[in-house]
Amino acid sequence: MLDTPRRIVVTGGAGFIGSHLVDRLLAGGHQVLCVDDFNDFYNPGVKWANIDPHRDNPRFLLAPADIRDRETIRPFIISYHPDIIVHLAARAGVRPSLTDPFLYHEVNTTGTLHLLDAAVAARVKKFVFGSSSSVYGINEKVPFSEEDPLLTPISPYAATKLAGEALCHSFAHLHRMPTVTLRFFTVYGPRQRPDLAIHKFARLILGGRPVPVFGDGTTRRDYTYIDDIIAGTLAAIDYESDPYEVFNLGNSRTVELRELIRLLEEVLGENALVDLQPLQPGDVPRTWADIKKAERLLGFRPATPIREGLAKFAEWLQNTTPETPPLGPRSV
Ligand SMILES: NC(=O)c1ccc[n+]([C@@H]2O[C@H](COP(=O)([O-])OP(=O)(O)OC[C@H]3O[C@@H](n4cnc5c(N)ncnc54)[C@H](O)[C@@H]3O)[C@@H](O)[C@H]2O)c1
Repeated sequence: MLDTPRRIVVTGGAGFIGSHLVDRLLAGGHQVLCVDDFNDFYNPGVKWANIDPHRDNPRFLLAPADIRDRETIRPFIISYHPDIIVHLAARAGVRPSLTDPFLYHEVNTTGTLHLLDAAVAARVKKFVFGSSSSVYGINEKVPFSEEDPLLTPISPYAATKLAGEALCHSFAHLHRMPTVTLRFFTVYGPRQRPDLAIHKFARLILGGRPVPVFGDGTTRRDYTYIDDIIAGTLAAIDYESDPYEVFNLGNSRTVELRELIRLLEEVLGENALVDLQPLQPGDVPRTWADIKKAERLLGFRPATPIREGLAKFAEWLQNTTPETPPLGPRSV
């Protein structure tokens, strides 16, 4: 599907994962419509900076719009005549979803419904949905497989991603719209969201401030480097789903929190001060992706070991100003 130039909508295209995908799609000669509301979950200036290199590219179009606003989103997407929609816009993050579950529901569930509705109306050839490992919740069985039952989400964020998946399945089934759900496992790398552990910890370590460690440091995560996630996402766009498929995209190697901090110390060349805190509600004890299905059907092979990925992240961070100066919107 990506052999020939396509018209592709990327929602959340100014965010961490979305902006990397936009870079790759434009480099591949495709046309991209980036839909993003530049909200202040983190500094919107960072998001403007993420897409700034493309602003003069005639194949790049920006719709600074909120996916909750169906009256704006629907006609905009239909009139763009996209071949493909990659839906990544969401309120991300587990902990803030505990304090504002309604916002998470509106953006992640209702917003996804708006995108699916527009995709059907625009007769797209492929819909790709960015879901999360958090849908596995407190699943006892590891590694997490796409075959596992999914009824144990433990945060509103996870529940809204699960709802989004269910909507994708029903729309794919009812409208025969080829649809792929991707369950991302803790993604890291340059431009990573500042609220995520690796980015947050690294800044604290560099600033000589204590790193809050929730629990005893034995929780485990399957950290996945951004380039591997983008390779898997591009393969998913090309995958002929009939009509619906779901894939885990993870590194399939778990790293203990204590080990992560040790590796960060190594790549940053600084010691961490650790501040032990109680486990946070909503946090799952471990994530671990079974990626056999993605390997078999997408040719997905994560190529970045954690030490190497952290070193690349550290290099990016040390060459980035702590607060990217907010860039204003430019009309497009
Ligand atoms: N980063 C991870 O580790 C990870 C893991 C699992 C799943 N995911 C999912 O991947 C996707 C991208 O995550 P990310 O880490 O790049 O987050 P991000 O916050 O950097 O990117 C999301 C983008 O969506 C935009 N957005 C949010 N609400 C919107 C709205 N109402 N209308 C339009 N745009 C809106 C934001 O402004 C942001 O630019 C999300 O769906 C997230 O749930 C991420």
